[in-house]
Amino acid sequence: MNSSFIISLCLSSFFFHVFCTEAAPEYLYHDCPNTTLFTPNSIYRSNLHALLSSLSSAAPGSTNGFANANVGQNPPERAYGLFLCRGDLNSTTCGRCVAAGERDILQRCPNQRVSIIWYDQCMLRYSNWSILSVMEQSPDRVLYDIGNVIEPTRFMQLLGETLRDIAMRASAGGSEKKVAAAEANFTSSQKLYALAQCTPDLTASDCVKCLQFASAHLPQGKQGGRLLFPSCNLRYDLYPFYNASALPSPATPPPSLAPSPPAPVTGLEVTQKRLASLAMASPAAGKGSLAHGCHDLGKAGLTTGERKWDWEVHGARTSVCGFAMKLASKEFEL
Ligand SMILES: *[C@@H]1O[C@H](CO)[C@@H](O)[C@H](O)[C@H]1NC(C)=O
Ligand SMILES: *[C@@H]1O[C@H](CO)[C@@H](O)[C@H](O)[C@H]1NC(C)=O
Ligand SMILES: *[C@@H]1O[C@H](CO)[C@@H](O)[C@H](O)[C@H]1NC(C)=O
Ligand SMILES: *[C@@H]1O[C@H](CO)[C@@H](O)[C@H](O)[C@H]1NC(C)=O
Ligand SMILES: *[C@@H]1O[C@H](CO)[C@@H](O)[C@H](O)[C@H]1NC(C)=O
Repeated sequence: MNSSFIISLCLSSFFFHVFCTEAAPEYLYHDCPNTTLFTPNSIYRSNLHALLSSLSSAAPGSTNGFANANVGQNPPERAYGLFLCRGDLNSTTCGRCVAAGERDILQRCPNQRVSIIWYDQCMLRYSNWSILSVMEQSPDRVLYDIGNVIEPTRFMQLLGETLRDIAMRASAGGSEKKVAAAEANFTSSQKLYALAQCTPDLTASDCVKCLQFASAHLPQGKQGGRLLFPSCNLRYDLYPFYNASALPSPATPPPSLAPSPPAPVTGLEVTQKRLASLAMASPAAGKGSLAHGCHDLGKAGLTTGERKWDWEVHGARTSVCGFAMKLASKEFEL
C-alpha cells in the first residue's frame, strides 16, 4: 500500500479521533502473538465473543474498575478475560473504555487466543489460560515523552523515590483496588506526578514485584513515561494527568529529596529499538483496510492530546502495532 495514503488516513482518523469523538478512549497499544490463532468458526471464537461482551457489560456497573470472567466448559475452548480501569475514573468512563476495547480488540487481533489492549483509561486482555491472580510481566510497552528534563540525575532519584512510595501504597490497597498516586517537587516551578496501579487480584507482594519490574524499565531523563504491563502499570509526568481527589490520599508524607541515599534507577541495558506503526491510528480507523497492518518506521512519536510521545520497545518482540506519529514535524522515515 502507498505510504502517503497510510499517513493521510492516519492523520484524518487522528483528527476524527481527537476532535470529533471527544469521549473516545485514548488507544495506546495492543499485543497479540500470532502464534495463538484459532480457526474462525471454532467454539473458542463464540466463547471469546461471549466473554468480551460479558466484560463490557460488567464495566459500567463496576465499583472498583476491575472484573474478570471466563466462558466455556472445556479447557481448550475456554476463554478467560479481565479488564482494569484507571483507578481515578468513574464507572461511566470505565464502561466506555472497555466497550471500545471489546470492539477494537476483535478488529486488531482477529482469531487470536491471547490478546491485550491498553488505553489511557483501561486495559483489556483475554487468554485461553486462566489469567486471574497470575502476575504477568509480558507483553509490555514503554512510552516516554520525548522532552528531556533538566538535571536528569536528580530527577531520576526523585522519580525512583516517588515510585517506590506509590508501589508500596498501591500494593497495600487490598482486593478492591490497588492504585496510588503521588506528587513531588522537582524544581520550584516543576512538580512530578506519578500514578501506579496493579490489577487487584494480585497479592500485595506480586503487585510490588510487578511495579518494581516496571520501574526497572524507566526511560532515563525523560519528562514523562508510561510503563504498560498486563498486571500493573506506571505513569509519571510533570503535569497532573490524574484526578487526585478520586484517589486514596497518602497516609505517609510524600518523599523529599534531602536525606535518603541515591537510589539507582536503571534503564534498559540492552539497546532499545524504536519501532513504530502507522496502522490503526484509532478505534475509528479499525474499519479501514489497515486493520491489521504493522509498519516499522524506525522512528516516530505518539501524540496524545497536546503531548508528544516517543516510545520504545524491549523484550523479544520486534513487531509493534500502534498509534505512532509526530504531527509537529511529520518526521516519517518510510
Ligand atoms: C507472525 O508474525 C511474524 C512476525 O511478524 C511473521 O513473520 C509471521 O509470518 C506471522 N505468522 C502468521 C501465521 O501470520
Ligand atoms: C492455548 O492456545 C495455545 C495455542 O493455540 C496452545 O498451544 C495451548 O495449549 C492452549 N492452552 C490451553 C490451556 O488450552
Ligand atoms: C465521569 O467522569 C467523566 C470524565 O471526568 C465526566 O464527564 C462524567 O460526567 C462523569 N460521570 C459521572 C456519572 O460522574
Ligand atoms: C512543594 O513546594 C510547595 C511550595 O513551593 C510547598 O508548599 C510544598 O510543601 C512542597 N511539597 C513537598 C512535598 O515538599
Ligand atoms: C474527580 O474525582 C472526584 C471524586 O470522585 C469527582 O467528584 C470529580 O468530578 C472528578 N473530576 C473530574 C474532572 O473528573
